[in-house]
Amino acid sequence: MADLTSAVEERAQRASLLTYRRGTTADVPAFRALGEAVVPPTYGPIDAAYAQRMLDEWWVPERFEASLAVNTHLVAECDGEVVAMAAFGLLSRSHREFPHVAGEREVMWKLYVHPDHHGRGIGSRLLAEVEALVEGDELWLEVVEGNEQAFRFYAARGFTEAERIGDRAWPDDVWMVKRLR
Ligand SMILES: CC(C)(COP(=O)(O)OP(=O)(O)OC[C@H]1O[C@@H](n2cnc3c(N)ncnc32)[C@H](O)[C@@H]1OP(=O)(O)O)[C@@H](O)C(=O)NCCC(=O)NCCS
Repeated sequence: MADLTSAVEERAQRASLLTYRRGTTADVPAFRALGEAVVPPTYGPIDAAYAQRMLDEWWVPERFEASLAVNTHLVAECDGEVVAMAAFGLLSRSHREFPHVAGEREVMWKLYVHPDHHGRGIGSRLLAEVEALVEGDELWLEVVEGNEQAFRFYAARGFTEAERIGDRAWPDDVWMVKRLR
C-alpha cells in the first residue's frame, strides 16, 4: 500500500510540472527536436525510409510555419521544455490533395509525445483539448498502418476506422473518426 501511495504521489507531483498552451512560431525549433526524438522510434520499425521521409518533409521549419498559419497547435511543456504537441485544422486548408474526400473535415494532423514522457496522460490531455476546441461534430485523424500503439490509443478514446488510403509505395494511411457531439 505504501508503494502504491508513493507511486500515486510521484505521478501527481510529476504531472504538476506539466503546462499546456498554444504553439507559436517560436516553438518551431522545439517541434523539430521533438520530431527527431519521436519519429524514428515510432516509424522506423514500420518502414525506416518512410520515417526519414517524414522527418525531411513534415518536420522541417517551412512546413511548421505553413501549418502554424492555418492550423491550431497545442504544446505541453515540462519544466519549460516542449515534450509534446498536437495540431489540428480543416482539411481544405492543407496543401495536400485528398481525392477520396468529398466535403470538409476537421483533422488532427499531429499528436506526438516525447518517448521519455509516454504514459503520463499527456497525449490524452492534448487530445481532450483538441476535441474541446474543434468546432464541427467530428474529429478525423490519420494513423500510419502498423502504428498499433497509436491505433489502440485512439480506439480506446472513441475513434473508429473509416477508410484506408495507400499507394503501395508507402504504408497505408488509416483514417479514423470520432463523433464529438
Ligand atoms: C500515442 C501517444 C500520442 C499517446 O500519448 P501518451 O501521452 O503516451 O498517452 P497517455 O499517457 O495519455 O495514455 C497512453 C496509454 O498507454 C498506456 N501506457 C502506459 N505506459 C505507457 C508507455 N510507457 N508508453 C505508452 N503508453 C503507455 C497508458 O496507460 C494509456 O493506456 P490507456 O489507453 O489504457 O489509458 C504517444 O504514445 C506517442 O506520441 N506515440 C508516438 C507518436 C505517435 O504514434 N503519435 C500518433 C500519430 S497518429
